[in-house]
Amino acid sequence: MVGRAASAVVRVAALAHNLERIRAVAPQSRVLAVVKANAYGHGIEGVVPALRGADAFAVACIDEAIRVRDAGIESPVILLEGVFDAAELVLAARYRCELVVHSAWQVDALAASRNPAYRFPVWLKIDTGMNRLGFPLREARAAWERLCGLDAVGVVRLMTHLASADEPGSAATGAQLERFTLATEGWPGERSIANSAGVFAWPDSHGDWVRPGLALYGVSPFADRDAAGLGLQPVMTLQGRLIAVREVRAGESVGYGGAWTAPGDCRVGIIGIGYGDGYPRQAAPGTPVLVNGVRCPLVGRVSMDMLAVELGGVDAALGDTAVLWGDGLPVEEIARSAGTIPWTLLCGVTDRVRHEYV
Ligand SMILES: Cc1ncc(COP(=O)(O)O)c(C=O)c1O
Repeated sequence: MVGRAASAVVRVAALAHNLERIRAVAPQSRVLAVVKANAYGHGIEGVVPALRGADAFAVACIDEAIRVRDAGIESPVILLEGVFDAAELVLAARYRCELVVHSAWQVDALAASRNPAYRFPVWLKIDTGMNRLGFPLREARAAWERLCGLDAVGVVRLMTHLASADEPGSAATGAQLERFTLATEGWPGERSIANSAGVFAWPDSHGDWVRPGLALYGVSPFADRDAAGLGLQPVMTLQGRLIAVREVRAGESVGYGGAWTAPGDCRVGIIGIGYGDGYPRQAAPGTPVLVNGVRCPLVGRVSMDMLAVELGGVDAALGDTAVLWGDGLPVEEIARSAGTIPWTLLCGVTDRVRHEYV
């Protein structure tokens, strides 16, 4: 018998390396490390100490901010969507959060709040074309003036978010940058625009603060540029163990629906990891899995707790480790093979996967 032992091995030195790499690419900017969604599936508590050198941290909600604080972080923590209702301002102040303000009701809530002990640093979010969050250009000036006059508000900074920064040379990104510059011309206050793709492909977007997420975890945001070429090191290696090896005869099929039929006699390895752990069920047949360092093709459908690979001549025994992505097998490649993006795969790693920080 062998243990199931699906694990996500997180290399903390790679986190620190990637942070330094981002600093080298955007040397004039401070770094706001994006650690929302459980640090992109890497585990907030394990990740933020390794990123202590970042200038600030960004999360999606107050629960995540509390986890960052409880992990011992004293530097600024920004709620990227601000508060979700006025009552949340109390907790946000207790945990000394900075707030993105993207809607008029949030300005109203700040105007009505009474807490002389804490003035919220605020990031006014301006919508320059993504049409997701933020004040439309025509309303931004009035919102900014109002915020600047509120007792509950301290420093006011300016931000926007790029919709297509991962498409180098995209006209839409050029237009967003131009709109942001024009709309905020002459306003005092620091600016933040760039996500990971902005850091590497759009130097004009660097501004005072860059906001990388994916690149910190050593993954490329581009379809046509790999992480190594960007000078990034992968942080997470998702691995499982070989829990069974079977001989399959030519013409026999493997797994649910009999979706794969062996073209010849072969050895099939069963790995104890599946979509219940966050491995994508949509992974195409042939998606590589590293067994003892050798690429073996995925065969048949991914199950909840298991998947099958054709072992060929690989020297493999029960209990051996299989790498699903990470060291030697970029998560970008697995994402492409599953018709998805690396962000989804990393964030989708589930609770039952044990995180090991090395
Ligand atoms: C507002 C904002 N800034 C920055 C980021 C980081 O993006 P990325 O992971 O592409 O670097 C995100 C992520 O979705 C975001 O929503």
